[in-house]
Amino acid sequence: MSSPSHHPITLTPSHPVTLPPRHTHHVLEVRDLVVHYHTTRGAVQAVNGVSFDIREGERLGLVGESGSGKSTIALALLRLIRPPGRIESGEMLLEGVDLLSLYEEEMRRVRLAKIALVAQGAMNSLNPVLRVKEQIRDGLKDHGIQLSPRALADRVAELLNSVGLRRDVANMFPHELSGGMKQRVCIAIAISLRPKLIIADEPTSALDVVVQRQVMDTLLAVQEDLGASIILIGHDMGLMAQVVDRVGIMYAGNLAEVSPVSDLFRAPLHPYSNLLIASLPSLEEKGAFQGIPGLPPSLLNRPTGCAFRTRCPHAMEHCAVVTPHLREVEPERRVSCHLYENEWSRESA
Ligand SMILES: Nc1ncnc2c1ncn2[C@@H]1O[C@H](COP(=O)(O)OP(=O)(O)OP(=O)(O)O)[C@@H](O)[C@H]1O
Ligand code: SF4
Ligand SMILES: [Mg+2]
Repeated sequence: MSSPSHHPITLTPSHPVTLPPRHTHHVLEVRDLVVHYHTTRGAVQAVNGVSFDIREGERLGLVGESGSGKSTIALALLRLIRPPGRIESGEMLLEGVDLLSLYEEEMRRVRLAKIALVAQGAMNSLNPVLRVKEQIRDGLKDHGIQLSPRALADRVAELLNSVGLRRDVANMFPHELSGGMKQRVCIAIAISLRPKLIIADEPTSALDVVVQRQVMDTLLAVQEDLGASIILIGHDMGLMAQVVDRVGIMYAGNLAEVSPVSDLFRAPLHPYSNLLIASLPSLEEKGAFQGIPGLPPSLLNRPTGCAFRTRCPHAMEHCAVVTPHLREVEPERRVSCHLYENEWSRESA
């Protein structure tokens, strides 16, 4: 069996990877986050002990198949998980403060002001009967910011301008806007209080390809202007490779690997990462998830052992018995796989 880190594809992302030094301040630290949905059929273990952190100004990508738990993480970070979902345990430290320890009222102030979400399908959740400026105004008002009509108009125009929209968009209703324009409005709302952390859940997936790239460029430009960090959730590995610093690969409610993007593409560690990258049609084309045989396991009553074992070309006997955990195996690189548990098993794999 060959080592999972040998792979024919090499890729140099067009976005220069500038990793900050290791001691750089962490904006967010997530520890052992567990989120379940309590359905009549049992608990769906959607997020099953996820840990990661993100540094100031960093771009972290979260990729994984549909149902792997990406949106659940996004909603949990804002404490917007609704019943039957529940955050079971874990810590989410934002600038050192555990968000799970806050009163709801305190959390409400953190949302938008410190962490902003561009939710999956955000553009379809704009209020159809409110003009764009009224939607922006309501976000500010919720946070106790009351501006004079004049100051509000200026603030709205400035926000629209920063996301590449003309100021007269302020007076339009959502149905008068294209998909790309609506998504830009959602970005404008998200950044209206200058958050430290932006979470963008598939911010461009509902748009056509040309518009996708433009909206993504806008999002990343405003993120850089603010000096904010961003968690970018998506399916498209090719796009991710070009824009993020590090990638977390989700599989069935867990992180399979977290690596700097250049390392991941040069030498993926986890067998799943390896298959994902091998399935990319080419470096320029969009990399949807295709070509990996098999299905992810049910998240109801999940058995012990590695969740990927039924699809893993390297599966060993004890992969069915012992659940692997994410651990650092190289500087800056973490993987959840028994192949890396110690050097001998890696050699013999
Ligand atoms: N309200 C809910 N009730 C029950 N199960 C849910 C609920 N919301 C999500 N789930 C389940 O939790 C798991 C994770 O879902 P989640 O939406 O986080 O996945 P995702 O990675 O964002 O997927 P996608 O790429 O399709 O957006 C899935 O198995 C899903 O069916
Ligand atoms: S733990 Fe075992 S089954 Fe899981 S990815 Fe590693 S080798 Fe494959
Ligand atoms: Mg999702």
